[in-house]
Amino acid sequence: MYFSEEVLADVRMGNDIVDVIGEYVKLKKSGANYFGLCPFHNEKTPSFSVSPEKQIYRCFGCGAGGNVFRFIEQKENLTFPETVEYLAKRINYTLPENNSKADAYKREIKQQLWDIHKAAARFYYECLNADMGAEARAYLDKRGVQPNIRKKFGLGYSPDEWNRLNDHLLELGFDQEMILKSGLVNGSNSGRYYDKFRNRLMFPIIDVYGHIIGFGGRQLRDNKEEAKYLNSPDTEIFNKSFNPYNLNFARHANKREFILVEGYMDVIALYQAGFKNAVAALGTAFNSNHASVLKRYTQNIIVLFDSDAAGENAVLRALPVLKEAGISAKVLQVKNAKDPDEYIKSYGAEAFAKLLSTAVNGTMFRIENVKKKYSLDNIDDKISLTRDIVEILAQTDDPLELELYIRDVAKQIGVSPEAILSEVNRIQGVKDRTPKGNGNGLGKSVKNIEVDNALEDAKSGLISLLALDGSLFESVERIFDKKEFLDDLYIKLYDIVKKLHAQNASIQAADIVTYLNGETDEVQSRAARILMAQLPYGSDEQRRHALADDLRLIKTNYIDRMMLEAEDDEQIVRLVQQKKNVENIIKSL
Ligand code: GTP
Ligand code: MN
Repeated sequence: MYFSEEVLADVRMGNDIVDVIGEYVKLKKSGANYFGLCPFHNEKTPSFSVSPEKQIYRCFGCGAGGNVFRFIEQKENLTFPETVEYLAKRINYTLPENNSKADAYKREIKQQLWDIHKAAARFYYECLNADMGAEARAYLDKRGVQPNIRKKFGLGYSPDEWNRLNDHLLELGFDQEMILKSGLVNGSNSGRYYDKFRNRLMFPIIDVYGHIIGFGGRQLRDNKEEAKYLNSPDTEIFNKSFNPYNLNFARHANKREFILVEGYMDVIALYQAGFKNAVAALGTAFNSNHASVLKRYTQNIIVLFDSDAAGENAVLRALPVLKEAGISAKVLQVKNAKDPDEYIKSYGAEAFAKLLSTAVNGTMFRIENVKKKYSLDNIDDKISLTRDIVEILAQTDDPLELELYIRDVAKQIGVSPEAILSEVNRIQGVKDRTPKGNGNGLGKSVKNIEVDNALEDAKSGLISLLALDGSLFESVERIFDKKEFLDDLYIKLYDIVKKLHAQNASIQAADIVTYLNGETDEVQSRAARILMAQLPYGSDEQRRHALADDLRLIKTNYIDRMMLEAEDDEQIVRLVQQKKNVENIIKSL
């Protein structure tokens, strides 16, 4: 979708970055900026800063940064157009009609599917509270789900008939074709339609915008002939892997971590007991898509699956997925109960809070788990066990954790800690030698790094001076070519600043970032870092000095680089001349 620059500017300026971020992060003012704990990585001391003046944010810890669009994009897991819509809605700004027919058509379909789901949820809710809902209500009573919670989660009942929902939706005026697309009704070969969910307790699945996008339905009586739970199929508005149950509430629970459980009833029982931060991956095994969605909201997850063997295996499968996503995982097991729901029912919220504090980290859980596979009374078992444990430990990158585990394990198995450590090192060493990225920075001397910093400062200084005062372009362009930046990002920033001045705009750092919305995360974060580093330049005199210093450094560096790459003597002589001449050129500014 295309938005004009005016529209983008309107939406951005209407959404003050401090207000928006303040809804997610507790910010404290200090000097010109606000500071808080970075929502994109785990930290105890604030390194996340927001500049009200520049309307950008930046984390000195993890490097995240950008303007308000970027923040919402990342935090809410939205595409850029969705972000614009989201922020426009936040300030009741009406976006101009979208002229792309294909987009409009797609949105229309989605809207209809949302409407159908909303109507269906209302229908199921009413059925639950009508005469026909008596058995379902009794079931909820039996399971201890209180009325306010039933309402909060929009629980319902699907009638024990073939097509009550279909008829109802048709009566409301929805197209049969659209109703089929919703997945709530199926068509048969004989041309008849029948409701997917019949005689089930209904759980609406809600996305982070509050749209109902699917349902889970549970049998009222355990009947092995049929599935205990049915879930909506994937549709144009619902994808199981991207929509954990209860994410809509959990993300507003203001907890540092999420609790990952297996089922609908676990989530609901925890919520009712005051633990609103539980989510469940429904109908599919926990996978990397789930992890990437959750990662937007938390870096910490406590995995709390059912206490049976299936649950334990599911934990073991989920741990590497979480680790891969960069989420730090702990594991909890309920004792004397089959799942968290039953645990809370039997022992209460206080006991559960206590239990939560006993969660062990993922490494420990995996070690305890392999220990069960072997007996320690023969050498072969000890060797196998040690191998398995070493494999697990080699995946730990926390040295302290490693040290403590090694001591502990060594004592238990009766092997020397040195032997375990050297095995771990051997495996880690093999991994470390695999190439990572471009290898830049390897063997770089400290001196080089300092020079690089000064050069970076000069480049960003030049950009901010130009942003501050567009009239400088005229004289700068006489003596400077943008290719001398030797860095695509600065060249882009230069072009953007120039373009914004040509439009007579007064430039804010955040406008510049808007132009970079198609770029990678890395580029955008770097841009924010560059723009955030801007120094306030005082008098005209000071600015002129700064400009001269910046240009001098950038130009000499450029010439040095050219010399390195020069192919013949003639070229080198020319470059030496140029270098001598830099000072004169700078003076002519
Ligand atoms: P209760 O038995 O009502 O307490 O449910 P539970 O949530 O404890 O269910 P269980 O532990 O059996 O399963 C965990 C989750 O797996 C459920 O919440 C469902 O999302 C899913 N699930 C369970 N049984 C089925 C099934 O037969 N089919 C499908 N598609 N999903 C199921
Ligand atoms: Mn369960």
